[in-house]
Amino acid sequence: MAPAKANGRGVQVEDTRICVVMVGLPARGKSYIAQKAQRYLQWLSVPSQTFNVGSYRRKAAAQPTADFFDTTNVEGERQRKAAAEAAVADMLKWFKNENGVVAILDATNSTKERRKWILEICTRAGIEVIYVESRCDDENLIMANIRDVKTTSPDYKGQDPEQAALDFRNRIRNYEKVYKSVNDDGDEEHLTYLKIMNVGKQVIINRIQDYLQSRVVYYLMNLHIRPRSVWLSRHGESMYNLDGRIGGDALLSPRGEQYARKLPDLVRESVGDDRPLTVWTSTLKRTIATARFLPKHYNQLQWKALDELDAGLCDGMTYQEIKDEYPEDFEARDEDKYNYRYRGGESYRDVVIRLEPIIMELERSEDILIVTHQAVLRCIYAYFMKRNQEKSPWMHVPLHTLIKLTPRAYGTDEQRWDAKIAAVSTWRGKGSTAKHEDPVPSALH
Ligand code: ATP
Ligand code: F6P
Repeated sequence: MAPAKANGRGVQVEDTRICVVMVGLPARGKSYIAQKAQRYLQWLSVPSQTFNVGSYRRKAAAQPTADFFDTTNVEGERQRKAAAEAAVADMLKWFKNENGVVAILDATNSTKERRKWILEICTRAGIEVIYVESRCDDENLIMANIRDVKTTSPDYKGQDPEQAALDFRNRIRNYEKVYKSVNDDGDEEHLTYLKIMNVGKQVIINRIQDYLQSRVVYYLMNLHIRPRSVWLSRHGESMYNLDGRIGGDALLSPRGEQYARKLPDLVRESVGDDRPLTVWTSTLKRTIATARFLPKHYNQLQWKALDELDAGLCDGMTYQEIKDEYPEDFEARDEDKYNYRYRGGESYRDVVIRLEPIIMELERSEDILIVTHQAVLRCIYAYFMKRNQEKSPWMHVPLHTLIKLTPRAYGTDEQRWDAKIAAVSTWRGKGSTAKHEDPVPSALH
Protein backbone atom coordinates (compact mmCIF):
# COMPACT_ATOMS: atom_id res chain seq x y z
CA MET A 1 0.00 0.00 0.00
CA ALA A 2 1.31 3.50 -0.82
CA PRO A 3 2.34 5.57 2.23
CA ALA A 4 -0.37 7.91 3.52
CA LYS A 5 -0.05 11.55 2.58
CA ALA A 6 -2.22 14.64 2.64
CA ASN A 7 -4.20 15.31 -0.53
CA GLY A 8 -3.23 18.98 -0.53
CA ARG A 9 -6.58 19.81 0.98
CA GLY A 10 -5.73 18.74 4.50
CA VAL A 11 -7.50 15.39 4.49
CA GLN A 12 -5.35 12.29 4.92
CA VAL A 13 -5.93 10.06 1.94
CA GLU A 14 -3.64 7.74 0.10
CA ASP A 15 -3.19 8.03 -3.63
CA THR A 16 -6.60 6.50 -3.75
CA ARG A 17 -9.34 6.72 -6.32
CA ILE A 18 -12.47 4.90 -5.36
CA CYS A 19 -15.64 3.94 -7.19
CA VAL A 20 -18.48 3.30 -4.75
CA VAL A 21 -20.88 1.01 -6.58
CA MET A 22 -24.38 1.08 -5.13
CA VAL A 23 -26.25 -2.25 -5.19
CA GLY A 24 -29.86 -3.07 -4.42
CA LEU A 25 -33.42 -3.34 -5.63
CA PRO A 26 -35.31 -0.12 -6.44
CA ALA A 27 -36.62 1.96 -3.50
CA ARG A 28 -33.94 0.70 -1.09
CA GLY A 29 -32.48 4.13 -0.41
CA LYS A 30 -29.48 3.85 -2.77
CA SER A 31 -29.79 7.41 -4.09
CA TYR A 32 -30.37 8.64 -0.56
CA ILE A 33 -27.18 6.94 0.66
CA ALA A 34 -25.25 8.14 -2.43
CA GLN A 35 -26.16 11.79 -1.97
CA LYS A 36 -25.37 11.70 1.75
CA ALA A 37 -21.97 10.14 1.12
CA GLN A 38 -21.21 12.75 -1.52
CA ARG A 39 -22.23 15.62 0.75
CA TYR A 40 -20.07 14.27 3.58
CA LEU A 41 -17.04 13.81 1.33
CA GLN A 42 -17.41 17.23 -0.25
CA TRP A 43 -17.67 18.79 3.17
CA LEU A 44 -14.34 17.14 3.98
CA SER A 45 -12.99 18.53 0.67
CA VAL A 46 -12.64 15.10 -0.90
CA PRO A 47 -13.56 15.61 -4.58
CA SER A 48 -16.57 13.38 -5.15
CA GLN A 49 -19.30 13.00 -7.73
CA THR A 50 -22.40 10.85 -8.15
CA PHE A 51 -23.22 9.25 -11.50
CA ASN A 52 -26.86 8.28 -11.54
CA VAL A 53 -27.56 5.71 -14.26
CA GLY A 54 -31.30 6.45 -14.08
CA SER A 55 -30.77 9.99 -15.34
CA TYR A 56 -28.76 8.65 -18.33
CA ARG A 57 -31.48 6.08 -19.06
CA ARG A 58 -34.10 8.85 -18.93
CA LYS A 59 -32.48 10.53 -21.94
CA ALA A 60 -33.51 7.54 -24.09
CA ALA A 61 -36.53 6.28 -22.14
CA ALA A 62 -38.07 9.12 -20.16
CA GLN A 63 -41.13 7.42 -18.73
CA PRO A 64 -40.85 3.67 -19.24
CA THR A 65 -43.42 1.29 -17.78
CA ALA A 66 -42.43 -1.68 -15.64
CA ASP A 67 -42.00 -4.06 -18.63
CA PHE A 68 -39.04 -1.94 -19.81
CA PHE A 69 -37.15 -3.41 -16.83
CA ASP A 70 -38.01 -7.02 -17.68
CA THR A 71 -34.73 -8.68 -18.71
CA THR A 72 -36.54 -10.50 -21.55
CA ASN A 73 -37.27 -7.08 -23.06
CA VAL A 74 -34.40 -6.92 -25.57
CA GLU A 75 -34.73 -3.24 -26.40
CA GLY A 76 -35.08 -2.34 -22.70
CA GLU A 77 -31.94 -4.32 -21.90
CA ARG A 78 -30.01 -2.63 -24.69
CA GLN A 79 -30.99 0.86 -23.53
CA ARG A 80 -30.22 0.09 -19.90
CA LYS A 81 -26.80 -1.26 -20.78
CA ALA A 82 -26.13 1.82 -22.93
CA ALA A 83 -27.11 4.09 -20.03
CA ALA A 84 -24.73 2.26 -17.67
CA GLU A 85 -21.92 2.48 -20.25
CA ALA A 86 -22.45 6.22 -20.70
CA ALA A 87 -22.40 6.80 -16.93
CA VAL A 88 -19.22 4.75 -16.49
CA ALA A 89 -17.54 6.53 -19.42
CA ASP A 90 -18.33 9.94 -17.87
CA MET A 91 -17.08 8.69 -14.53
CA LEU A 92 -13.73 7.65 -16.01
CA LYS A 93 -13.41 11.07 -17.71
CA TRP A 94 -14.14 12.75 -14.39
CA PHE A 95 -11.41 10.78 -12.60
CA LYS A 96 -8.93 11.61 -15.36
CA ASN A 97 -9.76 15.24 -16.19
CA GLU A 98 -10.94 16.55 -12.84
CA ASN A 99 -8.71 14.61 -10.44
CA GLY A 100 -11.73 12.96 -8.90
CA VAL A 101 -11.19 10.90 -5.75
CA VAL A 102 -14.52 9.21 -4.97
CA ALA A 103 -17.15 8.48 -7.62
CA ILE A 104 -20.48 7.00 -6.65
CA LEU A 105 -22.16 4.88 -9.31
CA ASP A 106 -25.82 5.02 -8.43
CA ALA A 107 -27.74 2.20 -10.11
CA THR A 108 -29.19 -1.14 -9.04
CA ASN A 109 -26.11 -3.11 -10.17
CA SER A 110 -28.16 -6.07 -9.14
CA THR A 111 -26.48 -8.86 -11.12
CA LYS A 112 -23.07 -10.48 -10.72
CA GLU A 113 -22.35 -9.85 -14.40
CA ARG A 114 -22.88 -6.08 -14.01
CA ARG A 115 -20.67 -5.95 -10.93
CA LYS A 116 -17.93 -7.95 -12.64
CA TRP A 117 -18.05 -5.65 -15.67
CA ILE A 118 -17.61 -2.54 -13.47
CA LEU A 119 -14.78 -4.16 -11.52
CA GLU A 120 -12.87 -4.98 -14.70
CA ILE A 121 -13.19 -1.47 -16.10
CA CYS A 122 -12.18 0.20 -12.82
CA THR A 123 -9.28 -2.18 -12.14
CA ARG A 124 -7.86 -1.45 -15.62
CA ALA A 125 -8.01 2.27 -14.79
CA GLY A 126 -6.39 1.80 -11.37
CA ILE A 127 -9.57 2.63 -9.47
CA GLU A 128 -10.56 0.72 -6.33
CA VAL A 129 -14.11 -0.58 -6.16
CA ILE A 130 -16.28 -0.83 -3.09
CA TYR A 131 -19.82 -2.18 -3.38
CA VAL A 132 -22.39 -0.68 -1.03
CA GLU A 133 -25.54 -2.75 -0.96
CA SER A 134 -28.78 -1.73 0.71
CA ARG A 135 -31.09 -4.64 1.46
CA CYS A 136 -34.51 -4.14 2.92
CA ASP A 137 -37.39 -6.55 3.36
CA ASP A 138 -39.60 -4.25 5.41
CA GLU A 139 -42.63 -4.03 3.11
CA ASN A 140 -44.06 -1.01 4.93
CA LEU A 141 -40.83 0.92 4.54
CA ILE A 142 -40.57 0.03 0.85
CA MET A 143 -44.15 1.17 0.23
CA ALA A 144 -43.47 4.40 2.17
CA ASN A 145 -40.35 4.99 0.03
CA ILE A 146 -42.38 4.45 -3.15
CA ARG A 147 -45.05 6.87 -2.00
CA ASP A 148 -42.59 9.47 -0.68
CA VAL A 149 -40.11 9.67 -3.53
CA LYS A 150 -40.98 7.36 -6.43
CA THR A 151 -44.45 8.57 -7.39
CA THR A 152 -43.05 12.09 -7.68
CA SER A 153 -39.99 10.99 -9.71
CA PRO A 154 -39.62 12.34 -13.28
CA ASP A 155 -40.38 8.75 -14.41
CA TYR A 156 -44.02 9.32 -13.41
CA LYS A 157 -44.44 13.05 -13.97
CA GLY A 158 -48.08 13.94 -14.65
CA GLN A 159 -49.31 10.45 -13.79
CA ASP A 160 -51.79 9.25 -11.19
CA PRO A 161 -49.81 8.47 -7.97
CA GLU A 162 -51.76 5.23 -7.37
CA GLN A 163 -50.97 3.97 -10.87
CA ALA A 164 -47.37 5.10 -10.49
CA ALA A 165 -46.98 3.18 -7.21
CA LEU A 166 -48.47 0.05 -8.82
CA ASP A 167 -46.15 0.30 -11.82
CA PHE A 168 -43.15 0.86 -9.55
CA ARG A 169 -44.06 -2.28 -7.57
CA ASN A 170 -44.06 -4.20 -10.86
CA ARG A 171 -40.72 -2.67 -11.79
CA ILE A 172 -39.30 -4.03 -8.53
CA ARG A 173 -40.74 -7.49 -9.35
CA ASN A 174 -38.87 -7.49 -12.64
CA TYR A 175 -35.63 -6.67 -10.86
CA GLU A 176 -36.29 -9.37 -8.26
CA LYS A 177 -36.22 -12.02 -11.01
CA VAL A 178 -32.50 -11.43 -11.63
CA TYR A 179 -31.27 -9.77 -8.41
CA LYS A 180 -28.36 -11.42 -6.64
CA SER A 181 -27.21 -9.98 -3.35
CA VAL A 182 -23.43 -9.47 -3.24
CA ASN A 183 -21.59 -12.73 -2.49
CA ASP A 184 -24.83 -14.64 -1.87
CA ASP A 185 -23.43 -17.55 -3.89
CA GLY A 186 -20.05 -17.32 -2.16
CA ASP A 187 -18.18 -16.47 -5.36
CA GLU A 188 -17.83 -12.71 -4.72
CA GLU A 189 -15.70 -13.15 -1.63
CA HIS A 190 -12.83 -11.27 -3.30
CA LEU A 191 -14.94 -8.07 -3.55
CA THR A 192 -14.73 -5.17 -1.13
CA TYR A 193 -18.23 -4.56 0.13
CA LEU A 194 -20.55 -3.15 2.75
CA LYS A 195 -24.04 -4.60 3.10
CA ILE A 196 -26.55 -2.56 5.05
CA MET A 197 -29.59 -4.59 6.08
CA ASN A 198 -32.87 -2.91 7.06
CA VAL A 199 -31.33 0.52 7.52
CA GLY A 200 -28.39 -0.59 9.62
CA LYS A 201 -30.05 -3.23 11.85
CA GLN A 202 -27.30 -5.52 10.58
CA VAL A 203 -24.17 -4.64 8.65
CA ILE A 204 -21.64 -6.86 6.86
CA ILE A 205 -18.22 -5.53 5.94
CA ASN A 206 -15.81 -7.39 3.69
CA ARG A 207 -12.20 -6.59 2.76
CA ILE A 208 -12.14 -2.84 3.44
CA GLN A 209 -8.71 -1.73 2.28
CA ASP A 210 -7.63 1.75 3.30
CA TYR A 211 -8.29 4.87 5.32
CA LEU A 212 -10.71 6.60 2.94
CA GLN A 213 -12.75 3.44 2.39
CA SER A 214 -13.00 2.93 6.14
CA ARG A 215 -14.16 6.55 6.65
CA VAL A 216 -16.91 6.12 4.07
CA VAL A 217 -17.96 2.76 5.50
CA TYR A 218 -18.04 4.06 9.07
CA TYR A 219 -20.11 7.05 7.98
CA LEU A 220 -22.62 4.89 6.07
CA MET A 221 -22.95 2.50 9.01
CA ASN A 222 -24.10 5.40 11.18
CA LEU A 223 -26.94 6.64 8.96
CA HIS A 224 -30.52 6.25 10.05
CA ILE A 225 -33.83 7.54 8.67
CA ARG A 226 -35.84 8.07 11.83
CA PRO A 227 -37.46 11.51 11.75
CA ARG A 228 -35.48 14.05 13.75
CA SER A 229 -34.22 17.63 13.80
CA VAL A 230 -31.04 19.42 14.77
CA TRP A 231 -31.33 22.80 16.48
CA LEU A 232 -28.45 25.26 16.27
CA SER A 233 -27.88 28.40 18.28
CA ARG A 234 -24.97 30.66 18.96
CA HIS A 235 -24.35 31.60 22.59
CA GLY A 236 -26.01 34.77 23.85
CA GLU A 237 -24.21 38.06 23.20
CA SER A 238 -20.94 38.08 25.20
CA MET A 239 -18.88 40.87 26.74
CA TYR A 240 -16.24 40.26 24.06
CA ASN A 241 -18.92 40.62 21.36
CA LEU A 242 -19.74 44.07 22.76
CA ASP A 243 -16.07 45.06 22.47
CA GLY A 244 -15.66 43.54 19.01
CA ARG A 245 -13.01 41.14 20.36
CA ILE A 246 -12.56 37.64 18.98
CA GLY A 247 -12.02 34.36 20.82
CA GLY A 248 -11.55 34.43 24.58
CA ASP A 249 -13.75 32.92 27.26
CA ALA A 250 -15.93 35.87 28.23
CA LEU A 251 -19.22 35.81 30.10
CA LEU A 252 -22.56 36.87 28.65
CA SER A 253 -23.60 40.51 28.38
CA PRO A 254 -26.90 41.51 30.05
CA ARG A 255 -28.68 41.00 26.68
CA GLY A 256 -26.92 37.64 26.31
CA GLU A 257 -28.33 36.69 29.72
CA GLN A 258 -31.81 37.64 28.51
CA TYR A 259 -31.36 35.33 25.53
CA ALA A 260 -30.29 32.48 27.82
CA ARG A 261 -33.49 32.97 29.81
CA LYS A 262 -35.61 33.09 26.65
CA LEU A 263 -34.01 30.09 24.94
CA PRO A 264 -36.20 27.48 26.75
CA ASP A 265 -39.35 29.22 25.39
CA LEU A 266 -37.96 29.35 21.85
CA VAL A 267 -37.05 25.67 22.05
CA ARG A 268 -40.46 24.71 23.38
CA GLU A 269 -42.14 26.69 20.62
CA SER A 270 -40.06 25.10 17.89
CA VAL A 271 -40.12 21.51 19.21
CA GLY A 272 -43.89 21.71 19.42
CA ASP A 273 -44.28 18.95 22.05
CA ASP A 274 -42.62 17.63 25.19
CA ARG A 275 -39.95 15.65 23.37
CA PRO A 276 -36.72 15.88 25.38
CA LEU A 277 -33.68 17.13 23.50
CA THR A 278 -30.04 16.36 24.09
CA VAL A 279 -28.03 19.56 24.44
CA TRP A 280 -24.44 19.91 23.31
CA THR A 281 -22.39 22.95 24.23
CA SER A 282 -18.73 23.82 23.83
CA THR A 283 -16.47 23.89 26.91
CA LEU A 284 -16.49 27.71 26.96
CA LYS A 285 -18.39 29.74 29.55
CA ARG A 286 -20.62 31.59 27.11
CA THR A 287 -22.27 28.49 25.60
CA ILE A 288 -22.62 26.76 28.95
CA ALA A 289 -24.23 29.91 30.42
CA THR A 290 -26.58 30.15 27.43
CA ALA A 291 -27.80 26.57 27.93
CA ARG A 292 -28.16 26.70 31.70
CA PHE A 293 -31.89 27.49 31.88
CA LEU A 294 -32.93 24.66 29.58
CA PRO A 295 -35.09 21.99 31.28
CA LYS A 296 -33.16 19.90 33.78
CA HIS A 297 -34.32 16.63 32.22
CA TYR A 298 -32.49 17.44 28.95
CA ASN A 299 -29.18 15.60 28.84
CA GLN A 300 -26.29 18.05 28.47
CA LEU A 301 -22.85 17.30 27.10
CA GLN A 302 -19.83 19.57 26.65
CA TRP A 303 -17.62 19.01 23.61
CA LYS A 304 -14.14 20.51 23.22
CA ALA A 305 -14.66 20.00 19.47
CA LEU A 306 -17.45 22.62 19.61
CA ASP A 307 -15.13 25.35 20.96
CA GLU A 308 -14.76 28.41 18.75
CA LEU A 309 -12.14 28.54 15.99
CA ASP A 310 -8.81 29.13 17.74
CA ALA A 311 -7.43 32.52 16.72
CA GLY A 312 -3.98 31.72 18.14
CA LEU A 313 -1.87 34.86 18.66
CA CYS A 314 -4.87 37.01 17.69
CA ASP A 315 -7.10 35.62 20.43
CA GLY A 316 -8.70 38.50 22.34
CA MET A 317 -7.91 41.16 19.72
CA THR A 318 -10.27 43.33 17.67
CA TYR A 319 -10.10 43.15 13.86
CA GLN A 320 -8.57 46.64 13.85
CA GLU A 321 -5.82 45.48 16.25
CA ILE A 322 -5.14 42.44 14.08
CA LYS A 323 -4.86 44.62 10.98
CA ASP A 324 -2.47 47.01 12.78
CA GLU A 325 -0.29 44.28 14.24
CA TYR A 326 -0.40 41.62 11.50
CA PRO A 327 -1.40 43.45 8.28
CA GLU A 328 -0.24 40.61 6.01
CA ASP A 329 -2.22 38.07 7.97
CA PHE A 330 -5.27 40.29 7.89
CA GLU A 331 -5.05 40.48 4.11
CA ALA A 332 -4.28 36.78 3.69
CA ARG A 333 -7.34 35.85 5.70
CA ASP A 334 -9.61 38.01 3.54
CA GLU A 335 -8.01 36.50 0.45
CA ASP A 336 -8.81 32.92 1.45
CA LYS A 337 -10.77 32.84 4.65
CA TYR A 338 -11.52 29.10 4.50
CA ASN A 339 -7.87 28.08 4.36
CA TYR A 340 -6.18 30.86 6.32
CA ARG A 341 -4.78 29.51 9.60
CA TYR A 342 -4.18 32.01 12.43
CA ARG A 343 -0.62 32.02 13.75
CA GLY A 344 -0.64 29.35 16.43
CA GLY A 345 -4.33 28.78 15.80
CA GLU A 346 -6.79 27.28 13.33
CA SER A 347 -8.38 27.73 9.91
CA TYR A 348 -11.98 26.95 8.99
CA ARG A 349 -10.60 23.87 7.26
CA ASP A 350 -9.04 22.76 10.57
CA VAL A 351 -12.38 23.28 12.31
CA VAL A 352 -14.16 21.09 9.77
CA ILE A 353 -11.66 18.29 10.39
CA ARG A 354 -12.12 18.47 14.16
CA LEU A 355 -15.91 18.56 13.70
CA GLU A 356 -15.96 15.24 11.87
CA PRO A 357 -16.69 13.21 15.04
CA ILE A 358 -19.50 15.66 15.82
CA ILE A 359 -21.06 15.08 12.39
CA MET A 360 -20.68 11.32 12.82
CA GLU A 361 -22.36 11.47 16.23
CA LEU A 362 -25.10 13.74 14.85
CA GLU A 363 -25.84 11.22 12.11
CA ARG A 364 -26.24 8.48 14.72
CA SER A 365 -28.40 10.59 17.02
CA GLU A 366 -31.94 11.92 17.05
CA ASP A 367 -33.03 15.34 18.37
CA ILE A 368 -30.00 17.44 19.36
CA LEU A 369 -29.69 21.13 20.27
CA ILE A 370 -26.20 22.52 19.73
CA VAL A 371 -25.21 25.77 21.43
CA THR A 372 -21.95 26.84 19.91
CA HIS A 373 -20.02 29.65 18.23
CA GLN A 374 -20.15 31.61 14.97
CA ALA A 375 -17.41 29.76 13.02
CA VAL A 376 -18.36 26.30 14.29
CA LEU A 377 -22.03 26.89 13.55
CA ARG A 378 -21.15 27.98 10.00
CA CYS A 379 -19.28 24.71 9.46
CA ILE A 380 -22.09 22.52 10.81
CA TYR A 381 -24.67 24.49 8.84
CA ALA A 382 -22.59 24.10 5.65
CA TYR A 383 -22.66 20.32 6.11
CA PHE A 384 -26.44 20.10 6.42
CA MET A 385 -27.28 22.73 3.82
CA LYS A 386 -24.55 21.65 1.37
CA ARG A 387 -23.02 25.13 1.32
CA ASN A 388 -19.91 25.92 -0.65
CA GLN A 389 -16.90 25.61 1.67
CA GLU A 390 -15.18 28.73 0.36
CA LYS A 391 -18.28 30.85 0.96
CA SER A 392 -19.39 29.44 4.30
CA PRO A 393 -16.93 31.50 6.44
CA TRP A 394 -18.68 34.65 5.20
CA MET A 395 -22.15 33.50 6.11
CA HIS A 396 -24.21 35.71 8.38
CA VAL A 397 -25.42 33.85 11.49
CA PRO A 398 -27.15 36.34 13.79
CA LEU A 399 -26.96 36.16 17.56
CA HIS A 400 -30.15 35.42 19.50
CA THR A 401 -31.65 33.22 16.81
CA LEU A 402 -32.60 29.55 16.98
CA ILE A 403 -32.21 27.55 13.76
CA LYS A 404 -34.01 24.24 13.25
CA LEU A 405 -32.73 21.89 10.53
CA THR A 406 -34.81 18.87 9.55
CA PRO A 407 -33.17 16.33 7.21
CA ARG A 408 -35.49 14.99 4.48
CA ALA A 409 -34.97 12.34 1.78
CA TYR A 410 -33.08 14.63 -0.60
CA GLY A 411 -32.31 17.81 1.35
CA THR A 412 -32.72 19.64 4.63
CA ASP A 413 -35.58 21.95 5.67
CA GLU A 414 -34.78 25.06 7.69
CA GLN A 415 -36.77 27.21 10.09
CA ARG A 416 -35.59 30.11 12.26
CA TRP A 417 -36.89 31.69 15.45
CA ASP A 418 -35.77 35.23 16.25
CA ALA A 419 -35.71 35.82 20.03
CA LYS A 420 -36.28 39.52 19.37
CA ILE A 421 -33.57 40.53 21.81
CA ALA A 422 -31.22 43.08 20.29
CA ALA A 423 -27.56 42.10 19.92
CA VAL A 424 -24.51 43.53 18.20
CA SER A 425 -23.52 42.15 14.82
CA THR A 426 -20.34 40.07 14.80
CA TRP A 427 -20.40 39.65 11.04
CA ARG A 428 -17.51 41.29 9.16
CA GLY A 429 -17.32 41.95 5.43
CA LYS A 430 -14.14 41.59 3.39
CA GLY A 431 -11.64 44.36 4.15
CA SER A 432 -13.63 45.82 7.01
CA THR A 433 -12.30 46.44 10.52
CA ALA A 434 -15.59 47.81 11.84
CA LYS A 435 -16.38 46.80 15.38
CA HIS A 436 -20.01 46.05 14.58
CA GLU A 437 -20.89 45.99 10.94
CA ASP A 438 -24.39 45.59 9.53
CA PRO A 439 -24.37 42.60 7.18
CA VAL A 440 -24.99 43.47 3.54
CA PRO A 441 -28.04 41.61 2.13
CA SER A 442 -25.96 39.34 -0.17
CA ALA A 443 -24.02 38.07 2.84
CA LEU A 444 -27.11 36.72 4.55
CA HIS A 445 -26.50 33.16 3.46
P1 ATP B 1 -34.08 3.49 -7.39
O1 ATP B 1 -33.39 2.20 -7.65
O2 ATP B 1 -35.47 3.52 -7.89
O3 ATP B 1 -33.31 4.68 -7.84
P2 ATP B 1 -33.22 3.89 -4.64
O4 ATP B 1 -32.79 2.62 -4.03
O5 ATP B 1 -32.15 4.80 -5.13
O6 ATP B 1 -34.27 3.59 -5.78
P3 ATP B 1 -34.10 6.13 -3.07
O7 ATP B 1 -34.59 7.01 -4.17
O8 ATP B 1 -32.79 6.49 -2.49
O9 ATP B 1 -34.11 4.62 -3.55
O10 ATP B 1 -35.18 6.05 -1.92
C1 ATP B 1 -35.27 7.09 -0.97
C2 ATP B 1 -36.02 6.62 0.24
O11 ATP B 1 -35.32 5.53 0.86
C3 ATP B 1 -36.10 7.72 1.27
O12 ATP B 1 -37.46 7.84 1.64
C4 ATP B 1 -35.25 7.23 2.43
O13 ATP B 1 -35.82 7.58 3.69
C5 ATP B 1 -35.26 5.73 2.27
N1 ATP B 1 -34.03 5.06 2.72
C6 ATP B 1 -32.85 5.62 3.03
N2 ATP B 1 -31.95 4.69 3.41
C7 ATP B 1 -32.57 3.50 3.33
C8 ATP B 1 -32.18 2.16 3.58
N3 ATP B 1 -30.93 1.87 4.00
N4 ATP B 1 -33.08 1.17 3.37
C9 ATP B 1 -34.31 1.46 2.94
N5 ATP B 1 -34.77 2.72 2.69
C10 ATP B 1 -33.92 3.73 2.89
O1 F6P C 1 -35.18 1.30 -11.38
C1 F6P C 1 -34.44 2.24 -10.75
C2 F6P C 1 -33.33 2.79 -11.58
O2 F6P C 1 -32.76 3.84 -10.84
C3 F6P C 1 -33.74 3.27 -12.95
O3 F6P C 1 -34.21 4.60 -12.95
C4 F6P C 1 -32.49 3.12 -13.72
O4 F6P C 1 -32.72 3.08 -15.11
C5 F6P C 1 -31.90 1.88 -13.17
O5 F6P C 1 -32.32 1.82 -11.82
C6 F6P C 1 -30.38 1.88 -13.27
O6 F6P C 1 -29.85 0.70 -12.84
P1 F6P C 1 -29.61 -0.61 -13.79
O7 F6P C 1 -28.16 -0.75 -13.82
O8 F6P C 1 -30.30 -1.71 -13.06
O9 F6P C 1 -30.21 -0.36 -15.13
